[in-house]
Amino acid sequence: MKRLIRLSLVSVIIFSCNPALKNSASGIAINPYNYNIQKKIIAENGAVVSAHPLASKVGIEILKMGGNAIDAAIATQLALAVVYPNAGNLGGGGFFVARLGNGELVSIDYREKAPGNAHRDIYIDPDGKARTDKSQDGHLASGVPGAVAGLFASHKYAKLPFARLIQPAIDLAAKGFTISEREAKSLNGLQDDLKKFNSVIPVFVKNEGWKAGDTLIQTDLANTLKRIRDNGAAGFYEGETAKLIVEEMKRGGGIITYEDLKNYKAQPRTPHQFNYKGYKIVGMAMPSSGGLLLHQMMKMIENRNIGAMGFHSVQAVQLMTEVERRAYADRAEYMGDADFYKVPVARLGSDAYLKERMQTYNPEKATPSTDIKPGVVTGKESEETTHFSVIDKEGNAVSITTTLNNSYGSRTVVGGAGFFLNDEMDDFSIKPGVPNMYGAIGGEANAIAAGKRMLSSMTPTIVLKNNKPYIVIGTPGGTTIPTQIFQTLVNMLEFNMSTEDAVYKPRFHHQWLPDEIMIEKNFPQPVRDALQKMGYILKERVAFGRTEVIKILPNGKFEAVADNRGDDAAEGW
Ligand code: GLY
Repeated sequence: MKRLIRLSLVSVIIFSCNPALKNSASGIAINPYNYNIQKKIIAENGAVVSAHPLASKVGIEILKMGGNAIDAAIATQLALAVVYPNAGNLGGGGFFVARLGNGELVSIDYREKAPGNAHRDIYIDPDGKARTDKSQDGHLASGVPGAVAGLFASHKYAKLPFARLIQPAIDLAAKGFTISEREAKSLNGLQDDLKKFNSVIPVFVKNEGWKAGDTLIQTDLANTLKRIRDNGAAGFYEGETAKLIVEEMKRGGGIITYEDLKNYKAQPRTPHQFNYKGYKIVGMAMPSSGGLLLHQMMKMIENRNIGAMGFHSVQAVQLMTEVERRAYADRAEYMGDADFYKVPVARLGSDAYLKERMQTYNPEKATPSTDIKPGVVTGKESEETTHFSVIDKEGNAVSITTTLNNSYGSRTVVGGAGFFLNDEMDDFSIKPGVPNMYGAIGGEANAIAAGKRMLSSMTPTIVLKNNKPYIVIGTPGGTTIPTQIFQTLVNMLEFNMSTEDAVYKPRFHHQWLPDEIMIEKNFPQPVRDALQKMGYILKERVAFGRTEVIKILPNGKFEAVADNRGDDAAEGW
């Protein structure tokens, strides 16, 4: 029986000199030396969409083996840590949002934490100057990684033994995989930083340069993964791996200690939920601003009949821009790790507050950001994070966004352990009013404190219709993440666009400060002209994020669409 309809197959077939080996130890049939990128698929048993074709294929193979969507998500995340080193990771953190087959909604926070020796002014020079170089580059930029703790915390919802889920990643690291042209270019652009931020030269350094078709073998990483397979989370947070991390810290002036590693715990959180025109939208709570920002933005447009305005109409773009501006002003003032700072979530998401917030909205012209203060509550362009969406036929839907922050994080690879460390400390407000790498500012709510989690924008989201999964969505993109999810959902729910159009069409972004609308290169000229006449400053920039969507069709089949802004790939079964 033909179970799968392949609707589009992008013609990226990679060949290398290596013989095509099957991934034997894991028992799954993937050829890491010759694979294709598929942008859309419709399937009936399950689907995985991620930033890398090999990671998506690993997830599907796990589903075929009898795993559920959580098993597939764990295996996909581990595979991304090997095949997508710019954002897939062991040395970073992320958020897991799921709707389980029994209807339960769960989320797990495995965001990095400030090390125990961090403090509010750790990036301030004696003369008061904020050192963003230190919060963004090298050893001192790293928070305590949460990724491995997150994988084990989510495993309680899985069916297969962890050892089976990690084996494909071990094989990919040990035997290698063929890199694409995009990956070769990315690694070549990294060479100077790798030499600058590492004293133990990592495997990613290649003096003659990388080219498409080269095989990347990561023996140290394979050994780290084996220690995790054999010892569980302790294989990372204790023993040899912890020793290698602490030694790396000592070589480069970092401050993560054995205690920081041993004490790291992933945290189950109640997902952030709200209703929008009969849909239930489920996302991540603090320390991600994503769930609440999406809530605020969707609710500020809910009663304004945006559907009738039309996609990329000046009216709709202007309304969404003003909504984004207002939500991001609140982000800067009020949002941070709720374990450390009382975030007024209920008030910021209340209908009364959001109505009040829109009282200054003028559909004829821009409201300058200087006129938009955070509401009164009584009571660099390289944004490497990665998202993947997974679904199975048992009703489990998983939305995970994970990150190192910048592309390749701090660009420091743990000597002997083979993985990049994050530069997530820059997501704190290192000094009030000083922009981070995304231009976002913050204050007390997101100030640094030992053991605190830095505010995130990651927005892994599940939309439920009649309490069943309808859309599973997320994207990388730093502070642009919530606005990208906002736009893609508005495209699908209000403008009734096809999933491909909803994902591929040009995006825009406003974040209060800087007071400008960032637009993608192919954003339509007449809309630009009209917005400029209304007083908006527009700034063209590189592509925004890589959105991975699964939509459940009326016939119950899964439509998975991978963003066309990268090598992202959809797989189904
Ligand atoms: N590092 C990007 C984010 O967490 O928002």
